[in-house]
Amino acid sequence: MAGAAAPGGEGWSSRTAFVLAAIGSAVGLGNLVRFPAEAGANGGGAFVIFYIFCVLLIGLPILLAETLIGRHGKGSAIESMKKIALESRASSWWSVAAGIGMLGAFLILTYYSVLAGWIIHFIGVFVGDFASTLGSGNIAQGALQGSSLDEVQGILPALQANSNEMLAMHAIFMALTIAAVGRGVSNGIEKVAVWLMPIFFLLLIAITIYGAFTGSFGAALNFLFDFEPARLLDPSVQLSALGQALFSLSLGSALMITYGAYAARDINLAKTSAQIATADTSVAIIAGLAIFPITFAALAPASLTAILEGQEQVQGGLGLLFVNLPVAFQTMPAGSLIGLLFFIMVFFAALTSSVALLEASVSWAIGYFKKPRWLVTIVLGGLAFLIGAWASFSFNSQADFQPFDFMIFSGQPVFGIIDEFTAKILLPTSALLVAIFVGWIADRRLIDSENGLDGNLHRIWLFLVRWLCPLVISAILLTGLFPGLL
Ligand code: PHE
Repeated sequence: MAGAAAPGGEGWSSRTAFVLAAIGSAVGLGNLVRFPAEAGANGGGAFVIFYIFCVLLIGLPILLAETLIGRHGKGSAIESMKKIALESRASSWWSVAAGIGMLGAFLILTYYSVLAGWIIHFIGVFVGDFASTLGSGNIAQGALQGSSLDEVQGILPALQANSNEMLAMHAIFMALTIAAVGRGVSNGIEKVAVWLMPIFFLLLIAITIYGAFTGSFGAALNFLFDFEPARLLDPSVQLSALGQALFSLSLGSALMITYGAYAARDINLAKTSAQIATADTSVAIIAGLAIFPITFAALAPASLTAILEGQEQVQGGLGLLFVNLPVAFQTMPAGSLIGLLFFIMVFFAALTSSVALLEASVSWAIGYFKKPRWLVTIVLGGLAFLIGAWASFSFNSQADFQPFDFMIFSGQPVFGIIDEFTAKILLPTSALLVAIFVGWIADRRLIDSENGLDGNLHRIWLFLVRWLCPLVISAILLTGLFPGLL
């Protein structure tokens, strides 16, 4: 049996299941919503290039470090770090790194589910629209034909103003997440990934190819890869790219440690890490290449030129996916079918990530409180629902409640504060501590026997984990948080 000694005697049923679940956790709203939004807000090219740098030189080595901690420790993230610390005669306080990550994952879940609730709402809109185009025998036309531009652009604001509906969708999504996690690792979490991820990939490829033929592919390529070198040195662009790389690979969130614990001994973790990072990064770039051409095609030529010449900002943020994209589907041939498939695809990706976000703390709480999985899952999922509900008021009654008027938090309501705090503070801090722990503190023989690397690759990995990761993460954290420092 694969991973029989993991927490609660659970484990993935095969290597493929582990890789799919890990990819499922990595690929999510981070790739499909956050990546294009951050790329838009940070000027495209420079952000994307720095992001790829972060994935290769920081994300990938830390991904291997985290999965190996889990696989050796065979417990929840905190337990696993404690165990290795003790075996290495180091302080068990190092497990704080996993604790910080676990808190990060839990807090991300709170607002993640609100966003995923919006996706459910849009699936509803497009199901209705597709049904009516089918009824009229006119599938080839664009989506939402009866609606004016204002109405299409108003779908999201109308949803945001409707607190009850937002809460209902958030509740549905959280309930689905709880249902999967409550069933356990191989019966629930793994099944969701094994079924949904292959469909996700098929949809992504189909939509990208379609977008490439019908949209402004060249303009999107320009936007994503062309950059002003000066922006590469901008600390706030760097911190955004680092935060995004960690968020997208589910690092610094205790999650890869948790999933690693369910992995069997004969799995080569270096290889699986490379597969996970490659899949996740490809999806982010491909998603950019699907979303930007489609939205650019719907823009007036003058504003597109202004964007590409850097004089105008792309609608960054959430508007890109929920406002611009529906407008684009309106003019796109077969827009309601493509729109429907698009939002279903995003929903699948979101669910395989939200189960991971919840599992990170559930696996710890089962052992700590010695309570059954179902109970723990319902309690933690319920708590995340409540905090998420509070965050959702940031879009209506509490939009002006911006309690922290400093640093990266200024001008942010609760929703934005949770996102900034997790992606730009908690995840980098946890990842930094993990790198120092694996690079300097943990027993070398133990690390070497787990990582599946030899020769030069091993030396390169060790160098990155010991030197580059800690130095770069601390530098980016400090300069990004305290812009006046340099
Ligand atoms: N990586 C996921 C995404 O990109 C989010 C996530 C973060 C999931 C941390 C698990 C742990 O959407």
